[in-house]
Amino acid sequence: MSATAARSTGSRILLVIAIIVGLILLVSLGSWLWYRSHPATLVEAPPGVLAVLTRPIPDGPEAGLLRRGRYLATAGDCVSCHTRAGGLPFTGGRGLRTPFGVIYSPNLSGSADGIASWTPDQFFRAMHDGIDNDGNHLYPAFPYTHFTVVSRADSYAILAWLKTVPGDASTAPANRLPFPLDLRPVMLVWNALNFSPHGLAANHAQPASWNRGAYLVEGLGHCGACHSPKTTLGADDSSHAYQGGKLDNWLAPDLTGNKRTGLGSWSHQDIVDYLKYGRGARSNAAGPMAEVVTYSTSLMSDADLAAIAIYLETLTPSADMTASPPAAVAMRAGGAIFSDACTACHREGGVGSARLFPPLAGSAAVQQVDPTSVIRLILAGGRTGPTLARPSALSMPSFAWKLDDQQVADVATYARNSWGNHAPPVSADQVADLRRQLGLLTAMRR
Ligand code: HEC
Ligand code: HEC
Ligand code: HEC
Repeated sequence: MSATAARSTGSRILLVIAIIVGLILLVSLGSWLWYRSHPATLVEAPPGVLAVLTRPIPDGPEAGLLRRGRYLATAGDCVSCHTRAGGLPFTGGRGLRTPFGVIYSPNLSGSADGIASWTPDQFFRAMHDGIDNDGNHLYPAFPYTHFTVVSRADSYAILAWLKTVPGDASTAPANRLPFPLDLRPVMLVWNALNFSPHGLAANHAQPASWNRGAYLVEGLGHCGACHSPKTTLGADDSSHAYQGGKLDNWLAPDLTGNKRTGLGSWSHQDIVDYLKYGRGARSNAAGPMAEVVTYSTSLMSDADLAAIAIYLETLTPSADMTASPPAAVAMRAGGAIFSDACTACHREGGVGSARLFPPLAGSAAVQQVDPTSVIRLILAGGRTGPTLARPSALSMPSFAWKLDDQQVADVATYARNSWGNHAPPVSADQVADLRRQLGLLTAMRR
């Protein structure tokens, strides 16, 4: 008790000093947008990831604890960030790109260079407070701002299982961050402004399934890390929670009950199918969400997926957008391109083909206010995340070499404003900008 008190007095003094220093640093922190810089999608599943997550755990005195720990680690999708291309699962070294540099994930396996020596309390402090076993502040590229709600018992189970994961001597390369962001105490300031460790109080007005869904979505699932817009300091903007966020040139769509841009017109089963199979009647999961589905939600129990859906279904709808009507000339040009280039898969009328090619008519993904993912998929193509139940990865071809910026803009505008769809028109400048960001070739000149 008194040790804790002393520690908290000490850290309060540190905090005051840090806040003063921090005011100077704040300007440079201004665009430190952590989650807009989630790692680039793994091109191929590193060998062994699914084996580690699914192979039977033999019966024994600890089997129950280990099975629960692995399940919870799966729900947290720890493996996506903590595995580098070509590396053993959980041995870290994956670089998370941020606008200021790269942050590497540490080795979480049971080897000596992983978390073998960590105590349950140290591990809980990392999850709950964002502080490592040496007392250093971790960067919020590690989603402790969400994992903070994970219970002590669940955190212990995750650690117990991680200690059984075979590892190697991999250590994370040094982060590549400029001064002063390379100084971890800077995070003391960031935390003071954006974070306080907390749990999740039960809502007794809601059923147990809703409360379970809230725990998974707010905590281990860290869905808001991608799906919530960010403040200028890179924290989740809680006043617009789950209304859509931008990361790594993708747009993670609105998950609220909005009928046009959110999940308001999705059935309960539509949500469950999407999370379980990576595709359903309404949409397919590509990019960062493909990874979430392949390594995390597709391996979760039906009861937990139902709980997640039940919770999402109660999110207050975002405000309806107002969009100026598209220019007739763009709609005419876009319609012609759509017939030529898109109807082979998405069909006339944009109705798609259930569980293969997503419908574009009535699609929330197509009608997001921010068209980033729509433009990106047309330019770069996309791949639906494979799952054990639906193992073939469906793909959408890249049109970057075929359509110029104006043509991509026109077909996107057309898809966003046909068949009852309604969303702001897309400009050639927006397409040119994303084409540059993605380093894609310009269309061949006739
Ligand atoms: C979005 C990517 C991401 C996800 C998901 C993620 N981590 Fe991490 N984690 C990181 C990064 C990056 C760091 C390093 C942060 C730093 O250097 O400050 C880290 C650091 C850690 C650390 C500190 C380790 C050390 O040696 O200092 C622990 C413990 C940890 N993560 C556990 C987990 C667990 C358990 C899960 C799943 C429940 C998880 N992480 C999911 C990115 C992630
Ligand atoms: C790493 C970032 C990331 C995380 C974490 C994440 N998502 Fe996503 N999510 C995305 C992106 C990006 C898309 C858009 C994918 C696409 O366009 O194919 C998406 C799409 C979706 C969609 C489809 C929406 C639509 O209108 O088509 C649903 C539903 C969804 N996510 C639910 C979740 C849930 C539930 C969680 C937490 C368990 C979660 N996501 C966690 C990035 C993320
Ligand atoms: C060869 C088949 C094929 C063609 C041709 C094709 N697509 Fe797709 N499209 C797909 C597949 C498969 C997906 C799902 C990929 C993913 O997001 O997981 C998809 C996804 C999309 C999405 C995202 C929908 C969602 O729910 O996430 C949009 C928008 C889209 N396509 C637009 C177009 C446009 C516009 C064209 C024409 C320029 C086009 N597509 C041509 C196969 C195709």
